[in-house]
Amino acid sequence: MKETYVACEPGKTKVSPEIAALVENRKPGHALDAPFYISPEVFEADMKLIYGQHWIYVAVESEIPEPGDYITVDIHRNSVVVVRDDDNAIKAFHNVCRHRGSRLCNEHKGSVGNIVCPYHQWTYDLEGKLLFAEHMGDDFDRSRNGLKSVHLQNLGGLLFICLADSPPADFDEFKAAMEPYILPHQISKTKVAAQIDIVEECNWKLTIENNRECYHCAANHPELTASIFEYGFGYQASPSNQAMLESYDQLVLERSKDWEGGYGLPSIEIEHLDGRITGFRTQRLPLDQHGESETLDAKIASKKLLGDFTRADLGALSLWTQPNSWHHFMSDHIVTFQVFPLSAERTMVRTTWLVHQDAVEGVDYNLDNLTAVWNATNNQDRHLVEISQKGIHSDAYVPGTYSPYTEIYVEKFCRWYIERLTALINA
Ligand code: FES
Ligand code: FE
Repeated sequence: MKETYVACEPGKTKVSPEIAALVENRKPGHALDAPFYISPEVFEADMKLIYGQHWIYVAVESEIPEPGDYITVDIHRNSVVVVRDDDNAIKAFHNVCRHRGSRLCNEHKGSVGNIVCPYHQWTYDLEGKLLFAEHMGDDFDRSRNGLKSVHLQNLGGLLFICLADSPPADFDEFKAAMEPYILPHQISKTKVAAQIDIVEECNWKLTIENNRECYHCAANHPELTASIFEYGFGYQASPSNQAMLESYDQLVLERSKDWEGGYGLPSIEIEHLDGRITGFRTQRLPLDQHGESETLDAKIASKKLLGDFTRADLGALSLWTQPNSWHHFMSDHIVTFQVFPLSAERTMVRTTWLVHQDAVEGVDYNLDNLTAVWNATNNQDRHLVEISQKGIHSDAYVPGTYSPYTEIYVEKFCRWYIERLTALINA
């Protein structure tokens, strides 16, 4: 019988010899072979070994501001409830009843006193404890039938979950490095101004690869490049752009000195992508025009600045995480992105815009202005990844060469992906 991908037993996972060979033979500096983007079997491996074993960014704290507020997120077959309990602690549970497995919360978001199964009304408190289960007899032990918890980490208001029994231990290092950058933006005092899900007809890795380079930005993103400098997103000096990059580096240096020294805001780049399990990169970068925000005129979109900020020209703090998120923190708003694979060739991108909790729509901000740049950019990116996915189906497709100047972080993502698969296949 042909060996197919199976998760055998805890700690032991294998893939088919075909997938193992693909992983082993990946050519550095090149795009991945076609099956990585189109094979349902590789997709199953990705869900088990990448999304099932790493810290996945799923939500932002301000989506569940009050006790009892919850959201559900689906990571392939696994639905997870993220809920704020009565003590304001945030917990995550498998969205599966311990009786006969019914899905408990069937909306994307809501508010509950307890979690009540719609099937036979088993009732769990917000800490996952089974409170009521009728007709189960005296011998039934409720204490052994609480909800299965899921590991959760809160990094300055960004919520990450890990489905593995033993999550990667280096999250603490990530958190210690990133919180000084993120905390001044005070996510806990923001509210969700907009959240938009789009579905891209492509493999999730194309979505991430596209996000890890700005090679395509000048030709495709007029709204985004009105404020961002495309060479701020991973360009390295090549003979043709050396002078431009030198002057940009000078601008970054001057602005960082001002933000760090004059304003106490950590800004310098941290790149922890190589050899990391929880890989990430961050940097606060200057913006063009007025330098305030990722809007069409680069001026703030919301008059109520975040946190204790007293000035608007703080550029954009970017954070990119492996495997599924990117974020932009500005003085007036935050835009944050999650990538949820739906199948080998479908991917959901969730974009959330946060403003100060006291900002009033129509008074302090206009929703169309707030969302204009990233709505346009998301749609442009959707088109790009979808035509990429189509091209990869061709018999003529062979993995092409990445630019050593503008696709360094695409290569780093692919290297991370292959290294993680290799490590887990051989675990
Ligand atoms: Fe949930 Fe029966 S399946 S109470
Ligand atoms: Fe793009």
